[in-house]
Amino acid sequence: MKRIAVYPGSFDPTTFGHLDIISRSSKIFDKLIIAVITNPNKKPYFSIDERVKILKSSVKEKNVEIESFHGLLVDFMKKKNANVIIRGLRAISDFEYEFQMALTNRKLYPEIETVFLTPAEQWTYLSSTLVKEIARLGGNVKCFVPEIVVKIFKNKR
Ligand code: PNS
Repeated sequence: MKRIAVYPGSFDPTTFGHLDIISRSSKIFDKLIIAVITNPNKKPYFSIDERVKILKSSVKEKNVEIESFHGLLVDFMKKKNANVIIRGLRAISDFEYEFQMALTNRKLYPEIETVFLTPAEQWTYLSSTLVKEIARLGGNVKCFVPEIVVKIFKNKR
């Protein structure tokens, strides 16, 4: 039986931290599906199409698929026959939110497990929110995000 994992998130935008988690999880599972979701609690800066396009051009691993969806994550998991959710865990500050989501998802769909992966040390402080703030204020974000993100930021200014 194939081990299929789903890595859900806003990816607004994808950073080198996300790409690091994608690379690590693609080695553990037969198939990894990146699910780009619009988090109802956040107003995205990049459109869903832009976020998918960024991922498609940045992810090199062969066993990774990229999709977007609206709705409940557990419903998407069932549809995809996947039972593992991947989430990146950077610092203690991530823990409470991640713990709450993992247990809520388990309550909604007891067959799934959430697996937390830590990125390489150099990305443990990195966040899409800070990247957007720096770019909006005219700073250089080349060291945090793929080149395509830098280009889209420039076009939006
Ligand atoms: O990158 P983010 O914004 O931290 O990702 C959060 C995300 C998109 C994974 C979460 O909001 C989510 O799963 N949304 C889909 C709707 C859903 O299933 N909500 C219940 C989560 S317990």
